[in-house]
Amino acid sequence: MSPRGMPVTGSAAAPRHATFAEKFATLTMKAYYLLTVPIAIAFILTSSRIHSAYRMTFFRKLGLGLRMFWNKHRLPTATSFKAHLAMALKILEVAPDVPGDVVECGTWKGGSAANLSLVCRIVGRKLKIYDSFQGLPEGERGDREAKFYAKGDYCGTLGEVRENIARAGAIECCEFVPGWFQDTLPKHSSPVLLAFLDVDLEASLDVCVRHLWPHLIDRGYIFIDEFLRLDYCSLFFSEEYWKRYFQRTPPGLIGGGLGLALGEYYIGPEEERPDHPTQHATAAAYTRKDMSAYWTFYNSGSSGPASDPGSPRS
Ligand SMILES: C[S@@+](CC[C@H](N)C(=O)[O-])C[C@H]1O[C@@H](n2cnc3c(N)ncnc32)[C@H](O)[C@@H]1O
Repeated sequence: MSPRGMPVTGSAAAPRHATFAEKFATLTMKAYYLLTVPIAIAFILTSSRIHSAYRMTFFRKLGLGLRMFWNKHRLPTATSFKAHLAMALKILEVAPDVPGDVVECGTWKGGSAANLSLVCRIVGRKLKIYDSFQGLPEGERGDREAKFYAKGDYCGTLGEVRENIARAGAIECCEFVPGWFQDTLPKHSSPVLLAFLDVDLEASLDVCVRHLWPHLIDRGYIFIDEFLRLDYCSLFFSEEYWKRYFQRTPPGLIGGGLGLALGEYYIGPEEERPDHPTQHATAAAYTRKDMSAYWTFYNSGSSGPASDPGSPRS
């Protein structure tokens, strides 16, 4: 994810020198982040649900977490190692005889995929990586995220991604599916245990959800990265969307608007982040196929809002 209004390709804005307070805040956050790495690994991977078949001793968990942390810093990655660890936890909690691949849609330079491939090696699952390998597509009309990006942003070639995963991950677990999601995902046929959709645009999220949801196993997961964007997250709460495409209630999204609670200080809203320089949210949000978030209580004595509730944001 790029911060709102900050695509990865060139911006013409003149650089502004950070004030002492801003530098101090950045340093404080970096120190906190670094010092809490072992705590984050221990807290995230302490789970009685991790399947015993994977023999995840304390030191194996620590090794996995440290390797993910190190990968985050040696490969270009748009997501946090804590988000990768959260996905690792959910994958490790599923018994080896339950079928299902891990899928990543949106890989950029392969940083998050390298980390997911390490978990796939432990659990003996395949990691399917879908990407154009030529960056983001042109934004579609009506896509509210499109204005923050240009066509070709977040470009990593297939060669670069392969090389990065071969260097830092488990390339033998990976299968690459190059092309635009709208062309490749309709052909997806295998069961999916966990899909990581890090695709920036609303149109891309829509096509991924519509084509992968039917393949999710009963308690399969979808993780997303744009967890601070309320409109984006609302796909998972939209009664109309889930009724129209899946004839069911919306599944909801754990971490929507805030990110998963993995040791960060973040109050929001996102637009006011610069006013709170020591606040930051770094992890993902997720839903699971069996979850539901659907409001049913309507007070029988009330006929609706007393006054005009205003128009929804566009
Ligand atoms: C933010 S990057 C992924 C970052 C990566 N997961 C990480 O953590 O480093 C978004 C990716 O989505 C891909 N993408 C977005 N929409 C796409 C589409 N419709 N078809 C194919 N690829 C798409 C882009 O090519 C890009 O690699």
